[in-house]
Amino acid sequence: MRPALRAVRVDITTLAVDAIVNAANASLLGGGGVDGAIHRAAGPQLLAECRALGGCPTGQARITAGYRLPARYVIHTVGPVWRGGGDGEAALLADCYRNSLALADAAGCASVAFPSISTGVYGYPLALAAPVAVASVAGSSGRAVREVLFCCFSVADLQCYEALLAGAE
Ligand code: AR6
Repeated sequence: MRPALRAVRVDITTLAVDAIVNAANASLLGGGGVDGAIHRAAGPQLLAECRALGGCPTGQARITAGYRLPARYVIHTVGPVWRGGGDGEAALLADCYRNSLALADAAGCASVAFPSISTGVYGYPLALAAPVAVASVAGSSGRAVREVLFCCFSVADLQCYEALLAGAE
């Protein structure tokens, strides 16, 4: 079934969804941006579980518990660093969304929230990343996932996603 897609402007760590996605780095040992916020809110047990995973390649995803977060699970994915667009960034970014959704589906998650992966520290322009995110999610099909939230941190990001979703209806 194709999930319903929605854009919201909210701190992803506050969402009581089945799974939130973390824009992590390959070490899975935490960092800044949304990764730092998720680890702070989830508490030290999240880092302990991440440590046991031994990292994650770009475009892939790993699932852990949510610990002190309202979300049941955290799905950690590693977005590509923007290098101008000629280095396979779009395909890797699409992989992040697809592989994260596959893990959510396998865990029986009905609701999943994504941040705008790679568009902060990793420098992927939002206007180029958002269409990849929406197309990747819209093209997915699974049994469990019914709703996908694109969680935006700024008004400008929200407007970009809302325009894309209106066009995709
Ligand atoms: N809720 C929702 N979105 C957020 C939040 C939040 N609490 N905080 C930031 N964002 P970034 P990346 C947005 O830099 O570009 C870390 O150090 C932010 O405005 O978090 O994939 C990792 O460890 C932006 O739109 O992730 C990696 O080293 C989006 O989340 C590296 O950064 C992603 O920005 C990953 O860089």
